[in-house]
Amino acid sequence: MRKKIVVGNWKMNKTVAEATDLAAAILEKLDDGAVACEVGIAPPFPALTEVGNVIEKSAVGLVAQNCHFEDDGAYTGEVSVNMLASLGCSCVIIGHSERRQYFGETNQTVNLRLKKALDKGMQVIMCVGETLEERESGVTEKVVTEQVREGLKDVSDLGDVVLAYEPVWAIGTGKTATPEQAEEVHASIRSTISDMYGEVAAGQIRVQYGGSVKPSNAAELFAKPNIDGGLIGGASLKADDFVAIVKAAS
Ligand code: PGA
Repeated sequence: MRKKIVVGNWKMNKTVAEATDLAAAILEKLDDGAVACEVGIAPPFPALTEVGNVIEKSAVGLVAQNCHFEDDGAYTGEVSVNMLASLGCSCVIIGHSERRQYFGETNQTVNLRLKKALDKGMQVIMCVGETLEERESGVTEKVVTEQVREGLKDVSDLGDVVLAYEPVWAIGTGKTATPEQAEEVHASIRSTISDMYGEVAAGQIRVQYGGSVKPSNAAELFAKPNIDGGLIGGASLKADDFVAIVKAAS
C-alpha cells in the first residue's frame, strides 16, 4: 500500500513573516495524529529557515522548489542541494512546468538536477505534464512518457523519487483534469516505470496529481487507484484549504 503524499508548493508567494504565519496556521489546524499521509510544504528560498523552525518538531517536511545540479561555483542566482540540506530540507521539487516554461528547463537539465539531489540523499518530486496544445493534438502520453524516461535517465534506484503529473493547462487555471483524465495518465506513467524498472518498482512509486486541486475535488482525485496524493499550488496558500486537502488524502 503506497502512502499518499501531499505537498504545498507556495511558488513565489509570501514574505518571510507571512510564510512563518502560514506554516504556523497549517500546523495548528493539522492534527498530526490524524494525518495518515506524508505532508510537506515548499516555501520560497528566503523563507526556508524560518518555516523550517516552525515545523521542526512536526511531521511536516521542508521542501525546496528547485535546486542546481552543481555543488557550487559561478552560478549567480542558483541554490545548491548542500545549501538546501543545511537548512533542513529533505525534499526538492524538480522540473515544475513553470521552470520548464519560463526558465528554459529541459528534460536534460531536470535529469541533472534530479541525479544531484538523489546523490546527496534528498527526496525528489519530479514534475511532468503536457500543455493544452499537446493534449489537443493527442500526444499527451508520448510527451509524458518522454519526460519520465529522459528525466530518470541513468537513475537506478527510485526509492527517493516521487513523480507529479501536472497537466500544464490545469495549473493555476481553475481547470482540473477530471479524475478519469488524471487516472489515465497516472496509469500510463506507472506502466512506463514498469517497463523501465519492473513491476515491483512500478507498484511502489508514488505519483501525485497537481493542477487546481481544491478541497472540493481532492477526495475524488485521491480515490483513483493510481493517484497517490497531490502537489498543491494556489490552495496551499490558505491553511484551511491545504489542511482540508491533507485530510482528504488521509
Ligand atoms: P495549482 O498549482 O494548484 O495552483 O494549480 C499546482 C502546481 O503548480 O504545483
